[in-house]
Amino acid sequence: MRRGVLILGLVTVFAGLTALFALGRVWADNAAAPVDYTKILPADLVKNTPKGKLTNPYKDTQADVVAQGGQFLLSYSCSGCHGGGGGGGMCPALTNDIWVYGGDDDTLFRLVTLGSDELQKQGYTRIGRENVVGPMPPFGTIVKSADDLWKILAFVRSKYTGDPAYKFGTPPDQQ
Ligand code: HEC
Repeated sequence: MRRGVLILGLVTVFAGLTALFALGRVWADNAAAPVDYTKILPADLVKNTPKGKLTNPYKDTQADVVAQGGQFLLSYSCSGCHGGGGGGGMCPALTNDIWVYGGDDDTLFRLVTLGSDELQKQGYTRIGRENVVGPMPPFGTIVKSADDLWKILAFVRSKYTGDPAYKFGTPPDQQ
């Protein structure tokens, strides 16, 4: 009789531990699940990500990524306003050290996705001194995936010609 209780107790403890372990795994998987940028619209990524948390998975030293980004800049007709190399046409140059709202990945991704008007509604203000000709239109559902937009932004970074210290915006100690 006492042996029976003991075995039952052990089985219960074992089952409990197994369940806990499985739960822990599910939780860890969810927490660590990376976003598949190829499957999400820029608009949805912006919606789902807290301000300041967007970072480009690509580097502007990845030649293949940069080449694709340059193609997208043309095919999504960013070039119509910014010039094919991002050097500025009738709109701000993307290559200099003057950033209208800030030069970090998060701000640039949100600006292109939401456009100037919506970005300003969310509390951003123009800090750069660049000539303003009008608002940047929202591209959050026109650019087909966040991955495409990250590649465009990698291309933009690769064309940067300004002071290296300002490549990602005004350095914190100068703000
Ligand atoms: C209709 C013209 C137009 C098109 C098309 C356009 N932009 Fe813009 N873009 C602007 C304007 C105007 C601004 C400045 C916005 C402001 O001052 O609020 C801007 C600002 C920017 C900036 C910030 C520049 C800085 O110096 O801070 C980036 C980056 C940018 N655009 C990228 C893109 C990308 C990528 C695309 C294509 C997906 C694109 N733009 C398409 C007009 C355009």
